[in-house]
Amino acid sequence: MIYLDYVSTTPLNQEVNHMYQSLLNDYFANADSLYSLGLKTSALMEKSRELTARMLGVLPEEIIFTSGASESNSTAIKGCAFQYQNRGKHIITTAVEHSSVYQSCLQLRDVFGYDVDFISVNDKGELNLAELENKIREDTILVTMMYVNNEVGMVFPIREVYQIIQKKNPKVKFHVDMVQALGKLPIDLSYVDLASFSAHKIYGLKGSGVLYKKSSTSIVPLINGGQQEQQLRGGTSNTATHTMFAKTLRLALENLDEHYQYVMMLNQYVREQLQQIPDIVMNTPQDHVTPYILNFSCVGYKPEVILHALEMHECYVSTKSTCASHKHDVSRTLEAMGIDEKIAKSAIRISFSHYTTRDEIDEFLFYLKQVLKTIKKQR
Ligand SMILES: Cc1ncc(COP(=O)(O)O)c(C=O)c1O
Repeated sequence: MIYLDYVSTTPLNQEVNHMYQSLLNDYFANADSLYSLGLKTSALMEKSRELTARMLGVLPEEIIFTSGASESNSTAIKGCAFQYQNRGKHIITTAVEHSSVYQSCLQLRDVFGYDVDFISVNDKGELNLAELENKIREDTILVTMMYVNNEVGMVFPIREVYQIIQKKNPKVKFHVDMVQALGKLPIDLSYVDLASFSAHKIYGLKGSGVLYKKSSTSIVPLINGGQQEQQLRGGTSNTATHTMFAKTLRLALENLDEHYQYVMMLNQYVREQLQQIPDIVMNTPQDHVTPYILNFSCVGYKPEVILHALEMHECYVSTKSTCASHKHDVSRTLEAMGIDEKIAKSAIRISFSHYTTRDEIDEFLFYLKQVLKTIKKQR
């Protein structure tokens, strides 16, 4: 199998898997129970919170365990919007966010009457910082954006964004979706108020995430119930899953630089090879991008046909963000970059891991060339 869809999800680390299985069996008690089995279960989860906080350079009480980044994003955005609505109802985001951010903002706009601005990007995927600066107003309460784009791979200058916010209106809260940066780029939470993370993108469990919330920031809970997660997320804690987050994160942070350099080398190689194939156009720009993602178009070909033809060789790629793959024909990110519709419609995304080998890449290239020779172009 040649798996080139690590941005969508990653295989489960076997160390994580084994420990998780034993936790499920041995620590099944409710973490809120007063007897020793409950206390032991709770202690394990709290240890995970403490270690996660330490690795991210924050306080344990600033870590909220969630079911994944979609929940973290929804909670951060809506929780913040509801909390600070007396200050204003203006939110700023970008035109290229993951659907969990995009849809949360649309819901706030269409159902709750908030005013939302979507900052544009240029054809190189660069954020229009002047536009951002102009849009920040007295009644702006939140700026929410991603660190690394999951479809094309742009890396946004979040520190610069923070400085602009500080200059224009320091009361504005800053939320960053860090899903595609975790385990790949250094994470500095000192200048963000809220940040979202997911375990299944870093070889951890699905249904496992974290929301970082600075202690000086408040949010209205979206799930009401008991005292779990500082009363911000009611419901019996998914203790085995939350306990595994710290180990997953520790493993993901090991050899980060080495992995990054290796993937950069792989990426460069694939780029060079793809550029030699007629009909292929590169959508991922050269600069300010992650090496883990490469988006390109086989112009004139239906990407689903290529995807399924490659699948026959057990080679797995993606046509666009998996969360959006059943909807709209064109990726919102490519559309926002102003990529010609014909090119955007035939986009394919491949994404790498430090586990990806050069042999796998060569095999993928071989099959892709073969597929392009055998399938029909659209008229
Ligand atoms: C940038 C980004 N944000 C959020 C998510 C949602 O993560 P989860 O699957 O944990 O809900 C994803 C997953 O594709 C993503 O790539």
